[in-house]
Amino acid sequence: GLTRRYTFNVTMATVTRLCTTKSIPTVNGRFPGPRITVREGDRLIVNVHNNINNNVTFHWHGVRQLRSAWADGPAYITQCPMRPGQSYVYNFRIVGQRGTLWWHAHFSWLRATLHGPLVILPPRGVPYPFPKPYREVPLMLGEWFNADPEAVIKQALQTGGGPNVSDAYTFNGFPGPTYNCSGGANSTFKLKVKPGRTYMLRLINAALNDELFFAVANHTLTVVQADASYVKPFAATTLVISPGQTMDVLLTAATNPSSTAFAIAVAPYTNTVGTFDNTTAIAVLEYAPQRPAALRGLPAPPLPRYNDTGAVTNFSSNFRSLASARYPARVPLSVDRSFFFAVGLGADPCQSPVNGTCQGPNNTRFAASINNVSFVMPKTSLLQAHYQRRYNGVLAANFPAAPLRKFNYTGTPPNNTFVTHGTRVVPLAFNTSVEVVLQDTSIQGAESHPLHLHGYDFHVVGTGFGNYDAANDTAKYNLVDPVQRNTISVPTAGWVAIRFVANNPGVWIMHCHLDVHLSWGLSMAWLVNDGPLPNQKLPPPPSDIPTC
Ligand code: C2O
Repeated sequence: GLTRRYTFNVTMATVTRLCTTKSIPTVNGRFPGPRITVREGDRLIVNVHNNINNNVTFHWHGVRQLRSAWADGPAYITQCPMRPGQSYVYNFRIVGQRGTLWWHAHFSWLRATLHGPLVILPPRGVPYPFPKPYREVPLMLGEWFNADPEAVIKQALQTGGGPNVSDAYTFNGFPGPTYNCSGGANSTFKLKVKPGRTYMLRLINAALNDELFFAVANHTLTVVQADASYVKPFAATTLVISPGQTMDVLLTAATNPSSTAFAIAVAPYTNTVGTFDNTTAIAVLEYAPQRPAALRGLPAPPLPRYNDTGAVTNFSSNFRSLASARYPARVPLSVDRSFFFAVGLGADPCQSPVNGTCQGPNNTRFAASINNVSFVMPKTSLLQAHYQRRYNGVLAANFPAAPLRKFNYTGTPPNNTFVTHGTRVVPLAFNTSVEVVLQDTSIQGAESHPLHLHGYDFHVVGTGFGNYDAANDTAKYNLVDPVQRNTISVPTAGWVAIRFVANNPGVWIMHCHLDVHLSWGLSMAWLVNDGPLPNQKLPPPPSDIPTC
C-alpha cells in the first residue's frame, strides 16, 4: 500500500444556515470537513493542529486500528485530548477493510461540525462484487443547530433534563427548501444524474441524536455495503440509518424519468415520548441535461411515520453478509465468554438543582447506563494507564457481566432505572471469543440505542423483541451469513446479539452513538490484553501523544 498524508487544521469558520450566521469549529475551514480517500492496505497519516479554544481529538469511525490503538481517538480512552495550540499525528494502516467509513471529533459534542467521509477503495485492480458504478457520491446526513451544540449539552447536563433539539437535518451540510429561511438553491444539495447511469451513494449518518429514514422519490435503492463490509445486495425504497452507521447504495437513474427532478428526503425515526427534531430535509436528484429544476413541489418519497418500528424491523431484517468463497463470513461458532448488557436510560438524584428542580423525570437528573453502571470519563487516558499497568485510581476491572439489578422487560416503563457510577472495564485475554446480548431498557417510552464498538467489526447473530430468552433465542442464531458491522441499533423494546474475537490489543470503548446518551454515561470499555507473539502486542505510544 501507499502512504497518504493529510493535514487537519482545526479552526473556527463562519457559516450561515437557516439565516443564522455563526462561527463553528471546522477542519481546514470546511463544513462538512474534507473527504479522505485511501485504498485498502494504505497507511494514513493525519497531522492535526488544534487552533480552537477547546480540547479536541479525532476518531476514524469503523477503522479496525489493528495494533494502532493510540490512533483510535476517543478522548480519555485512547488519548488525552489536544489542548488549544497542541498537535498530534494519527498514523495507522487500513487493514482488510473497504467501503465507506468516516471521521469525527471524539470530545464532547464537537462532532456536530467536525466530521467528514473516509472512503476506502479496494486495492488497485480488485473489482467490487457488483457492477462498477458510473460515479460515487459521499452523502453525509447531519443535524444543524442554530445554537452552539457545546452550549446545548452543557445546559442539559446542568439542568438534568433533555437537551434542546436540532433545527434542521442536512445533506452534506445543507438543509434544503423545506425550512423557513433556508436560502434557496445555495442551501440545497443537488445530485445531478444522467439517464440510465448507476450511481453509488456513500451514505453516512453523522447526526448527533437521531436515527434517520432516507428515501428518493420514484427510485429504488440497492444496498450493497454496510459499515465497510459487503452485504448480499437487496432492494429497498426506504432506508434506516443510525448515527455512526454507513451504507453504500446503488441508484440507477431512469432512462425516461417522469420528472426532471425528484426529492431525496430524510426524517427521524424515534420512539421516545420526549421532544425531538421532527422535520424533513430535502435534497434534489436532478436529471441532466435540464434547466435547473424548481426546488418546491418536487415528487416526494413517502416516508414512514417517525415511530414506525415495523418499517425499521422490516428493513433491518434484510442484512446478510456475502459469506462467499472470496469474502467468507468468519463468524465465531463457539463462545468463550458471554455477556448480557441491559442498555438504557436511568435516573439520578437531583444533586445540583437549578432553581430547586432537576428537569429529568420526577425531579431527577437523566442518566444512562449499561448494566446499571453509568460510565464516568476518567481524568487520564485508559490506554496510557493500561500500557503502564497503573490502574489504581483510574479504572476498575470489574464491569458487571449482567445487570446489577435484575432486568425484566414488561413493556411498561419505568424499568430498571437504578444507576451507579464508575470507570469500569471488562478485561479480556487476547483471542477471547465474545458474545454480547444487548437488551434495551427504557424509562421514557421505548427507544433504540445505536451501540458502536471501537477496534472491531462484530457479527450480528440474532435479534428479537421483548426479553431475550437464552433457551429459545440462541437456537435461532444466524451463524452462516450474519451481517458484519461496527454500529448496531439495539431495537426499541428488544435485543440484539453480537459476536467478535478479541484479537486487537488495546482499550476499546463501546457506546451509544446518540451523543446525548454518551454524555449521560451509556458507555463501557473492553481492555484487551496483548497476545503472546511480538506482532500481537500493542506497540509503545507515539512520542507526540498529548498528556492530561
Ligand atoms: Cu463514531 Cu466512539 O464513535
